[in-house]
Amino acid sequence: MNVRLPRTWTTVLHLIVISGLIVEAIERVHLAAAGTGAAVLGTVGRKLYHYLYETCDENWLNFNAAGLKNDLDRKLYGQHVAAQVILKAVTGFMNNKNPKKPLVLSLHGSTGTGKTFVSQLIAENIYIQGIKSNFVHLFTATAHFPHDAHIDKYKTHLQEWIRGNVSICPRSMFIFDEMDKMHPGLMDSIKPYLDFSDNLDGVSYRQAIFIFLSNAGGEMINEVTVKFWRDGRDREEIQLRDLETELSQSVFSNEGSGLRNSVLIDKKLVDFFVPFLPLEYKHVIQCGLAEMASQGFTPTNIVIKRMADDLIFFPKEERVFSVQGCKLIANKLHFYI
Ligand SMILES: Nc1ncnc2c1ncn2[C@@H]1O[C@H](COP(=O)(O)OP(=O)(O)OP(=O)(O)O)[C@@H](O)[C@H]1O
Ligand SMILES: [Mg+2]
Repeated sequence: MNVRLPRTWTTVLHLIVISGLIVEAIERVHLAAAGTGAAVLGTVGRKLYHYLYETCDENWLNFNAAGLKNDLDRKLYGQHVAAQVILKAVTGFMNNKNPKKPLVLSLHGSTGTGKTFVSQLIAENIYIQGIKSNFVHLFTATAHFPHDAHIDKYKTHLQEWIRGNVSICPRSMFIFDEMDKMHPGLMDSIKPYLDFSDNLDGVSYRQAIFIFLSNAGGEMINEVTVKFWRDGRDREEIQLRDLETELSQSVFSNEGSGLRNSVLIDKKLVDFFVPFLPLEYKHVIQCGLAEMASQGFTPTNIVIKRMADDLIFFPKEERVFSVQGCKLIANKLHFYI
């Protein structure tokens, strides 16, 4: 059976061929004509080329630290720990001219708490094309690595894919979704790329970003958050240190985490385990209002409250935290408008 990867090699080859032809055409124009006119034509051609085709340079890659901070402050609700860690980790890494290893983030939390959403915000503030950039690669366990029997083939393809793409663009981003459904061992096969090494076979991986997304550890995070709430403590009092150690241990020992007994944890190759807290009623309202606006409606509290009241919350009696986070809101909204 064929292994399905996010973008086929054929597409990559086409792109290489097409861009090669264009560059060649530009070169020819440049060489054929003489004098100032030719230089101008060449410059215009090159500009046009960089404008039309995504290239791995400052035309298409432009880290916006203020933009990331602004997005995390304004668009991400109820995730003060994640927002703080991600801002520091990404900004520090992107501003470091000579990182010793790629950035590896592992985001954890129950469904609909914003893990995929945050990955999009990071991508949007690094790549002009955001998550749609050719330098951002999204892998989903059930779609791209569905059969355990093909694990060896997946390992080889994944390694080739990462090596090939990082050699095209060192500042590549790889997002692995549904880590909890990943075959244990698949991630270990990419260990050499995440490690501290100058280069492997002439390719340096130090500029790359790896993001793992998973529900593993979500229950533990929820328990800690509920405990803070029961003890009458402020949600904002929860710190990374209240969760991170236990999170990495639970991911390491949890059968369904995708990183069970993983060398990535053992060798401390994951830079941050980032907890996503369960969202409260007020955050669901915020998500609803934002979603209404993004769908072109005037945000209305009454509508969103009606929708939020129909969602499931826990603990059952007190109905504080949303079971599905903000996940169902976009689809449910039109029933209430
Ligand atoms: N904390 C949040 N702040 C703002 N919007 C959010 C938040 N969490 C979720 N959303 C909204 O809900 C949608 C679904 O969330 P998202 O896909 O990021 O959840 P997830 O944590 O990746 O869940 P899953 O574990 O099921 O993949 C997002 O596109 C976003 O619109
Ligand atoms: Mg997700």
